[in-house]
Parts: sequence; structure tokens; C-alpha cells
Amino acid sequence: MSAESGPVIFIDDDEDVLRAATQMLKLASFSPSVFGSAEAALARIDGNFDGPVVSDIRMPGLNGLQLFERVKAIDPEIPVVLITGHADVELAVAAIKDGAYDFISKPYANDRLLVTLHRASEKRRLVLENRRLRDAVVRSAGDIPLIGEAPTMIRLRETLSQIADTDVDVLVEGETGTGKEVVADLLHRWSRRRTKPFVALNCGALPESVIDSELFGHEAGAFTGAQRRRTGRIEHSNGGTLFLDEIESMPPALQVKLLRVLETRQITPLGTNETRSIDLRVVSATKADLGDPAARGDFREDLYFRLNVVTLRIPPLRERREDIPMLFGHFLERASKRFSRPVPDISAGVRDRLASHNWPGNVRELVHFADRVALGLEGLGTLIASGRKEQAVSSLPLSEKVGLYEATVIRDALQECGGDVRRTIEVLGVPRKTFYDKLKRHGIDAADYRKTAIG
Ligand SMILES: Nc1ncnc2c1ncn2[C@@H]1O[C@H](COP(=O)(O)OP(=O)(O)OP(=O)(O)O)[C@@H](O)[C@H]1O
Ligand SMILES: [Mg+2]
Repeated sequence: MSAESGPVIFIDDDEDVLRAATQMLKLASFSPSVFGSAEAALARIDGNFDGPVVSDIRMPGLNGLQLFERVKAIDPEIPVVLITGHADVELAVAAIKDGAYDFISKPYANDRLLVTLHRASEKRRLVLENRRLRDAVVRSAGDIPLIGEAPTMIRLRETLSQIADTDVDVLVEGETGTGKEVVADLLHRWSRRRTKPFVALNCGALPESVIDSELFGHEAGAFTGAQRRRTGRIEHSNGGTLFLDEIESMPPALQVKLLRVLETRQITPLGTNETRSIDLRVVSATKADLGDPAARGDFREDLYFRLNVVTLRIPPLRERREDIPMLFGHFLERASKRFSRPVPDISAGVRDRLASHNWPGNVRELVHFADRVALGLEGLGTLIASGRKEQAVSSLPLSEKVGLYEATVIRDALQECGGDVRRTIEVLGVPRKTFYDKLKRHGIDAADYRKTAIG
């Protein structure tokens, strides 16, 4: 028999009644669970129970009214239907006032009970559905929300909430600045691992010489200079989430070691022979399409398959342009607050750029653009750069105009190079010292443009 009418808990101390009820409920395509006592039923009821509870009032042990009080304490929105003898009608009416769903007097026609149960089931389904929706809203309003109403982003958020609280390893794929770390962070925060550490490792940024002790830890005296025992970062993430960032730049030697850890879920700290089991959830991130052998380079295929039990792809911003205004509005407001300035009006120039720019740096580039707009720098820089005149700028002395232009050029270069100072200096073709002098003069902090380093 199908279970399309949903579960029902039915309680009566009379076995014949239970047998008859089971048959009747199954025929009406409910899936009944029947119990001979309130105590036995209560052991099975929690806040997720998705159906009504039907109980006789007169029973040895806990009676139906006491059962109702207990169920109410578990979840006041579980519908409880009481079956009453003639003498108990007044009590049953009082229970209704107290929140019981309905009462039915003996003797009753099956249809009467079934109609009530269908309505009660439907009500319960709606209650639970509303709770799920409410939870989803609370989640999306979290402090690092994953903003976006493009269909791909809505789907991404749905998938995230479905898999966050499972232990599957996840590979997050996306261009620079698309929000890979935001996604990794949400996977952690929406899981029961949230109370344990989120450990981020930038796989390309670890110097080979320290990789082993950094990742796996060591005992005191394991090597010269190892005075004290050290817990490695992988062990530190025990019970929590290990975020492997930029896996495409992981050195081959590290790939081999990590593969072993992922397969065995064990580590062996330096200077010990002892293996320690660890409870890990691994989220990794890559800018490259590692599924494509041409793009994979020297990344091991076996490690790739180990890491991508589930792959989440975040589309670049240019493929979800409808999200740009909302994201920009959010970042502009946040930046204005941070710089203690009023939220500026959006000029035609800014609007143009939002609409026409290709955003190769994706959301991160948009964040920095909003920062510059909040500081009132953006309009000036672009106007000067494009050689157009504007009152505010034209009234400035030449040296300041040039200064503003220079600051914009430096910011753009830093942006382009993801805050990598060495590359920025190359791109700009200035001596190192000059570059640092200019950063200082314009109050630019290269770190603001840098991506997350070792967590
Ligand atoms: N959908 C989004 N909603 C709100 N903020 C976002 C969103 N996507 C990205 N951001 C913000 O954009 C910036 C870049 O995001 P993040 O660091 O997660 O990118 P990434 O994909 O890890 O980039 P990279 O590959 O360069 O490390 C962060 O400030 C992040 O908070
Ligand atoms: Mg990142």
C-alpha cells in the first residue's frame, strides 16, 4: 500500500482496537505506527515527526491527556486527536482549548476519523514546510551571505544547504573572486562541524621545506629545532573542515601525501611511527578545470577523483550579470559604513561601468570597485583616465590630478594581480622602492587586494 497520506501514530491499550485501526489506516493509504501505551509512543515522537497523533484518553500509565501535554512540550504544532468515551467529553473540550487538534467520541465512524486525519496531516505538512522555508531565509541572511538571485546562484544555494551537513568531500570550481571561499565557509557553517575548526590551506603557498611539519605535525626532537611537539594543521581540523585552496598549484610531492591522508583518513606526525585517525571533511577549491586532462597539467588524476565526490561550479560574474546591481548595492552600503561615509548617489559613470565592464576579477573586483566609489575615488579616476573634464577634478591642481590618476592605475594593477606585489611591480614597470613609496603616499594597502593566504 502506498504511503501517500503520510504517517500517523495511533495509541490505544486495547489490542483489538489497534489491529482494526492499522487496517483502516492502511486502506486509507496512511502509514500507521501503533502503540499500546503513551510511553512507548513518546519514545518515537520528536519535533520532526511529520504526521498527527491519535490517542485514546483512558489508558493505564500515562493517559491521553497527559500524552497530549508531553507531545505539546516536544512540539506544540504536532496535531493530537483524542478519542473519548462519553464521560470524558468535558475533559476533551478543555484539551481542545489547550491546543489539541480535535476530539472524537466513541463510538465513531471510521470516515469521521479519516477526514480529521487527512486535515491534520495536511496541516502538519504545511507547518514543517514553513519551518524549512524559514530556516532557508535565516541561512541566506547569515553574516557572509552568498548573494545572488540568478538561477544558477539559487540552485547553488539549494545544493549547498542539501549537502552542507553531509560528510561528502566537495570540490568548488570557479574563476578568481567568484566566491569559492564563501562557499567553503558556508559548507562548514551549515554543518554540525561548525563548532570545530575550519582550517584553510593554500596549497600553492606552502614552502616545500615546512610542508610536512606544517601539515602533519611533529614530536619534540623529530628534527633539529623541533623543541616542542606540534599539532599539524590537518590534525587541527579534526572533527571540522579542511579547506584546500588553490589545489591546482599543489606541488607533486604534496599531492602524493595528501592522497594518502584522504584515502586512509590517518596521519603520521614526523618523529613517530604512530598513525592517528582523523575525522575530516575536505572542501577544495580550484580555478582550473581539473576534469579536463589538458587543463590538469601535473595534477594527479587519482587525487582529482578523490577530491571531487561532488563538484560545485560557481559561474563568473559576466554570466550572471543580473546579480551585479544587487551585489554592488550591498558592497557599497557595507563600504560606506566601514569608511563612515554617507552612501553616495550612483553616478552615470558608475552605472555605465557596472553595465559594460566584463569583471574579470569577478565579485572581488566588484567589492573593490564599491570601495572606491564609497571613497569618492572612482568617478575621478575614470574621468581623468578617459580625458574628460569635470568640475571637481578640473579645479584641482595638476599635481593632485596626476596623483589621483596614479592611485587609480596602481589600484587597478593590484586588482589585476590579486594583490601580488611582485607581479604588480612588473606590470607597472617601476622600481620596487618607488612602488612602496607610492603605496604609502596614496594610502593603498596591497593586502586589501590579496586573496586569502594560509588560513
Ligand atoms: N555571492 C556572493 N555574495 C556576497 N559576497 C561574495 C559573493 N561571492 C563573492 N563574494 C565576496 O567576494 C570576495 C571574493 O570571494 P572569495 O574570496 O570567496 O573568492 P574566491 O573564489 O575564493 O577567489 P580566489 O580564487 O581569487 O581565491 C570576498 O570578499 C567575498 O566575500
Ligand atoms: Mg579563494
